[in-house]
Amino acid sequence: MQQLIDDLEKIREALRYHAHRYYVLDDPEVSDSEYDELFDRLLAIEGENPELITPDSPSQRVGGAPVEAFRSVEHRAPMLSLGKCTSIEELDAWLQRCNSDLDREVGSLICEPKFDGVAVNLLYENGVLTQAATRGDGSNGELITANVKTINSVPLKLLSNDVPAWVEIRGEIYITIEDFEAYNKTAAARGEKLFVSPRNSAAGSLRQKDPDMTAKRPLSMFCYSIGAHSDDYQPQSHLDAINDLRKWGCRVNDYAKRCVDGAACADYINKLGEKRDSLPYEIDGVVIKVDDLATQRDLGFYIRQPRWAIAFKYPPVDASTTLLDVEYQVGRTGAVTPVARLEPVRVDRVTVSNATLHNQDEIERLGIRKGSTVLLRRAGDVIPKIVKVVDAGKGALIAAPSVCPSCGTELARGEDEAILRCPAQLSCPAQVQNTVIYFCSRECLDIRGMGTQRVEQLLKEGLINRNSDIFTLTQESLVELERMGEKSAQSLIEAIESAKETTYPRFINSLGIRNIGEDTSTILAERFPTLEELINADFDTLLEVDNIAETIARNVVDFFTIEANREEARRLVDLGVHWPSPKSPVDSSLEGQIWVLTGKTSRPRTEVKALLTARGAKVSGSVSKNTTHVFAGENAGSKLDKAQELGIQILDETEFDALVS
Ligand code: IVH
Repeated sequence: MQQLIDDLEKIREALRYHAHRYYVLDDPEVSDSEYDELFDRLLAIEGENPELITPDSPSQRVGGAPVEAFRSVEHRAPMLSLGKCTSIEELDAWLQRCNSDLDREVGSLICEPKFDGVAVNLLYENGVLTQAATRGDGSNGELITANVKTINSVPLKLLSNDVPAWVEIRGEIYITIEDFEAYNKTAAARGEKLFVSPRNSAAGSLRQKDPDMTAKRPLSMFCYSIGAHSDDYQPQSHLDAINDLRKWGCRVNDYAKRCVDGAACADYINKLGEKRDSLPYEIDGVVIKVDDLATQRDLGFYIRQPRWAIAFKYPPVDASTTLLDVEYQVGRTGAVTPVARLEPVRVDRVTVSNATLHNQDEIERLGIRKGSTVLLRRAGDVIPKIVKVVDAGKGALIAAPSVCPSCGTELARGEDEAILRCPAQLSCPAQVQNTVIYFCSRECLDIRGMGTQRVEQLLKEGLINRNSDIFTLTQESLVELERMGEKSAQSLIEAIESAKETTYPRFINSLGIRNIGEDTSTILAERFPTLEELINADFDTLLEVDNIAETIARNVVDFFTIEANREEARRLVDLGVHWPSPKSPVDSSLEGQIWVLTGKTSRPRTEVKALLTARGAKVSGSVSKNTTHVFAGENAGSKLDKAQELGIQILDETEFDALVS
């Protein structure tokens, strides 16, 4: 038996070595078939001796069980964000500030590309990857271990034996531009939803509930820093840490470079800027970090940003192209929005062939005609935007449609709205389809397998006509459909069954009331703890709720005035959709306190407010002598100054977290 264990470990070591050469160093030593042969041997032995499988075995990259929801986990050291600058002058000002805060020179700096991907935190215990989490709010992230394990450049076991007892390794997971475009091409051919950017596609791939799905996406990772670690590890500088990461078999970017001063950083920024277009992955700037770790500690933090690092952001890149045509799409609320179809063009490294135009006024403001040459801009994850018309040309003007492109009903334009709407509501096929797609989406009931194509098919075949019909579907009725095997029918039914268990805010969100999203749904759920209370809420009661504006109050009342909407909401509950009953507010620990929130906080504002009000505190919009506490996030401005003047108690994120945890 011992012989078998030893053999197995030798095979694993060899596989780790070759995977590192291939995926991390990009310098394989053996052919793919030799590697596969070795892998097959591992699988064969483990297949016969499942008790010998270890979590760090190369076979454990795939095969994780799908999860219902990602569990939350606390990072051992918070994952910070970075202050930004956009010019060399601002960078110099930052360096000056470091020097004057320290009262000495900061010393060398390390410049690295700022990768435009998804930040993750890997925990290695005794060299073995035990946890992988997203950044989340900086303190707590979502556990995506099984998904991250599928990424070949992430070691399941660190290569060296000289590793800390435990260590957090941070880095960025990304998809190359080429892979992103190839994915979108296939998705477009299948009529599936496209990703707007490589970053967006990496994030989407990591959020798959089934690790087998993540395994199919070509994700990779660059490791760029170490978080918390055990005391047996004491790196002196950031560059030391990077070199250790490399030694441990982690993939490190080769462009990280030590720069002696601001001028050397400026040179690095310019040179990398020139290379940017030829890199296979997206970067949006340069991160400049103080190298010496003791100096980093001396400089410390500003709430959630280190004072010892800054991001230099490259300016956005524009490109011009020809506008071929404008098509009008009908959304779930009937809004008819123009979409520009463009001669495909590379903008900021990505091929763009569509751009949103928001509304007809935008078309007129820009002076767009068919065949106009337009200037396009891509900003991070945002859908590309037409900035201006370079040459209007002599093509036809773009006329707004007078009837709905989906159902032919005459369009209406609201009094104070720039948007055209189809008033046919659920008699309009496009609106029904988009309503159902929204209902099944992640922020609503999150029904896996109910993508655009599936919804379209179910509607066309008449198996569903509205949201609640989804809960009447049976496996027998589904297998009759084209492109639907026994297995997919079963997993769809299972996904529908598990979607019945939801939360009240999600349920409210899924009703599709106009202008009501996740935040407002949470507010409504708190104030109207049962569905019947929400259905019967009148306009004045709604208006009294903090953060509920007149339009929203009107939309809620209008929605529930319609008998069919009331009936549909109740039918969902009758068909088994349920959520935990609300906890009664027993905590009055902050009774009598009046809070003001300012600056950017990791938790959404609504959540901060909910946490405070649940404990009996009141939240106000401006600082006065009645204010008792101020919660100051990043970049807090004049409210913070005023609070300091008045001597009001000020809490930062960490203090706030401690208070409400
Ligand atoms: S260091 C101070 N290094 O930028 C510690 N971050 O705004 C901050 N990022 O969410 C992290 N490339 O995902 C660091 N070379 C790099 C980076 C990098 C991209 C991202 C990171 C984080 C964000 C901070």
